[in-house]
Amino acid sequence: MLAGKRILLIISGGIAAYKSLELIRRLRDRGVSVRCIMTAAATNFVTPLSVAALSEDKVYDELWSLTDESEMGHIRLSREADLVVVAPATADLLARMAAGMADDLAATTLIATDKPVLIAPAMNVVMWHHPATQANLTLLASRGILRVGPNAGKLADGEEGLGRLAEPHEILAAIDDFFAGSGLLKGRRALVTSGPTHEPIDPVRYIANRSSGKQGHAIAAALAALGAETTLVSGPTHEPDPPGARVVRIETAQEMLVACEAALPVDIAVCAAAVADWRVASPATQKVKKDGRLPVLSLTENPDILARLSTTGAARPRLVVGFAAETEEIVRHAQEKRRRKGCDWILANDVSPASGTFGGDSNRIHLVDDTGVEDWPAMSKREVAERLAKRIADHLGAGTT
Ligand code: CTP
Repeated sequence: MLAGKRILLIISGGIAAYKSLELIRRLRDRGVSVRCIMTAAATNFVTPLSVAALSEDKVYDELWSLTDESEMGHIRLSREADLVVVAPATADLLARMAAGMADDLAATTLIATDKPVLIAPAMNVVMWHHPATQANLTLLASRGILRVGPNAGKLADGEEGLGRLAEPHEILAAIDDFFAGSGLLKGRRALVTSGPTHEPIDPVRYIANRSSGKQGHAIAAALAALGAETTLVSGPTHEPDPPGARVVRIETAQEMLVACEAALPVDIAVCAAAVADWRVASPATQKVKKDGRLPVLSLTENPDILARLSTTGAARPRLVVGFAAETEEIVRHAQEKRRRKGCDWILANDVSPASGTFGGDSNRIHLVDDTGVEDWPAMSKREVAERLAKRIADHLGAGTT
């Protein structure tokens, strides 16, 4: 399946760079064309000559001259690939990527590329756990950068722990997964809601909730990564825009409904937003002043967007997915909610204190459909998003029919 694909491999300077030679060999065996960029530090660990011999192509390194630039500009270098792989990705290169620096050919190429990027980090265990590295990884993941590894084990410097470069066969498997999944939802249209809604009391005050938007944004990113033409309708959040999705920003539940209806028709709708159940019936047009009396807020019910999308007649998406946060009798409540709202699947999230969901990044999901329940193991919100996107692709079947 990989035959004919083009990979731009960026090798940065770590002892694990020797494994990149094996990776190149395996990729070439599979008929992949591999073009390599080496950082200056990488050339201390493996020679450009070995890399050139194995990749059967010219190597672009720090000796890259102005003559080369006129033959093959760095922009072209960054675009003439189906996938950019960084292996090994050192703490330094990850930091430069996160900061958007362009201080050598590798970093310049990474900021100039419009292609998906897969990183395979390798470093000392303390560097891996350092808050700076972890913050850089979170930022890169939020930009849609894919990752494989690192593995745990004995490191080159004698210490033990996380930081070993993934093995060449694991990097190859991640590349395989990327190409297998990248077109699964091609030709499909998806709509995702995310974040809280803000319901005004007056021009300066509002009613809101604590939703971060992390799960909804991750789902939009995962659907877009599988090739779906994705619209994300989001309330106010601090999350960066998911790569590849069209983002419509709204504040209130009513605005969210209008934006969702405008995005129809779609094949897939996933409602992950924490929509306010009520709004103030008549928000004040001027700031409410303290006049000695306590204001009384009269509330009215907001539209249920999930229920509306599930009952839009001919324009109904083929698959409508909702969420339910439950603390007890999770599956029974989720089944009831599924019937009441008319959606196809409910992802019930166990938020009971025993589940450890609160305050953590880990979710325990039960997928409830008309046939029963599928229990997923505890996983991060990003993993939930990726698994859901794959599950949706399986359900709809590949292709555009
Ligand atoms: N939802 C929606 N519009 C609303 C309220 C909820 O689209 N006005 C969607 C959410 O995005 C989520 C699902 O409905 O996918 C479940 O929301 P939840 O708040 O758990 O459901 P409620 O109907 O409010 O039920 P409960 O009585 O448990 O609060």
